[in-house]
Amino acid sequence: MTGNYLIKLEEITFGYNGKPLLFDSLNFFLSENARVGIIGPNGSGKTTLFNIIMGFVRPVKGTIEIAGELMKNEKDFQKARHLIGYLFQNSDDQLFCPSVKEEIAFGPLNYRLPKEEIEKRVKEVLELTGLKGFEDRAPYELSEGEKKRVAFAAILAMKPKILLLDEPTNGIDSEGVMSIEKILRTGGYTYVIISQDTEFLKKTTNKIYTIEKGRLKEFNFH
Ligand SMILES: Nc1ncnc2c1ncn2[C@@H]1O[C@H](COP(=O)(O)OP(=O)(O)OP(=O)(O)O)[C@@H](O)[C@H]1O
Ligand SMILES: [Mg+2]
Repeated sequence: MTGNYLIKLEEITFGYNGKPLLFDSLNFFLSENARVGIIGPNGSGKTTLFNIIMGFVRPVKGTIEIAGELMKNEKDFQKARHLIGYLFQNSDDQLFCPSVKEEIAFGPLNYRLPKEEIEKRVKEVLELTGLKGFEDRAPYELSEGEKKRVAFAAILAMKPKILLLDEPTNGIDSEGVMSIEKILRTGGYTYVIISQDTEFLKKTTNKIYTIEKGRLKEFNFH
C-alpha cells in the first residue's frame, strides 16, 4: 500500500454542471488511524467531498486511491465502499428498511454472515447507540435524533475500517453525543467527520481542515 494511506485524493478538480468549481487541484491524504475533522460554511463542498471519495460524484480531474487501490471505475468503488461506513448528512437518504432491526441487519446480511453473528452485531450496536427497545420500530416514524442513531448503528454493524461521518451530532442529545465520542475513542477506526460542532471535533479529532479556494486548508482554533 502506497505510504499506508487509506484515502488519497490528488489534484481533484470538480464543479457541478454549469456551476463554479468547488475543488481546484485539491489534495487529501488520510493515513491509517488518522482522526480528521472538516468544518466550513454551508455550500462550501464538504458533503460533495465525501461523495467524491465514495464515487457517487466523479471529479473532472484528479485521482482517488482507497486502501492503495486506484479508483478507475464503478466496480473499483463498489469494492472500496465495503471498507467505508458513510453516515449521510440526511438520515432519510440512508434509511429504507421497514424496521430498525432489519435496517441494522441489512449490511451484515449482505456480507452473508452467519445468523448468530448478525444477531450478535445487531444487539451490540443497539446497545452502543442507545437504541435498545427500538428493534421493531419503523425508521420513518422516528425522531431526527433517533433516525441518526439508527443510521450510525447500521454503519457500525458492518465493522468498517474507515468512517465518513457527515454531521453525526446533528439532532443528537448530549448523552448521545457522549456515546458517539466513546465509540470513536475506543473503536479503532480511521475517520473523517464533517461537523459544525467545534467542541465535539476538538474532542474527537487531532487535525481539522476547512475548504478554502477549492482546497483543504488546515484550521487552527484560537
Ligand atoms: N447534485 C447537485 N447538483 C448541483 N449542485 C449541487 C448538488 N449538490 C450540491 N450542490 C451545490 O454544491 C455546493 C456544495 O454543496 P455541499 O452539499 O457539498 O455543501 P456542504 O459544505 O456540505 O454544505 P452544508 O454545510 O449545508 O451541508 C452548494 O452550493 C450546493 O448547492
Ligand atoms: Mg453538507
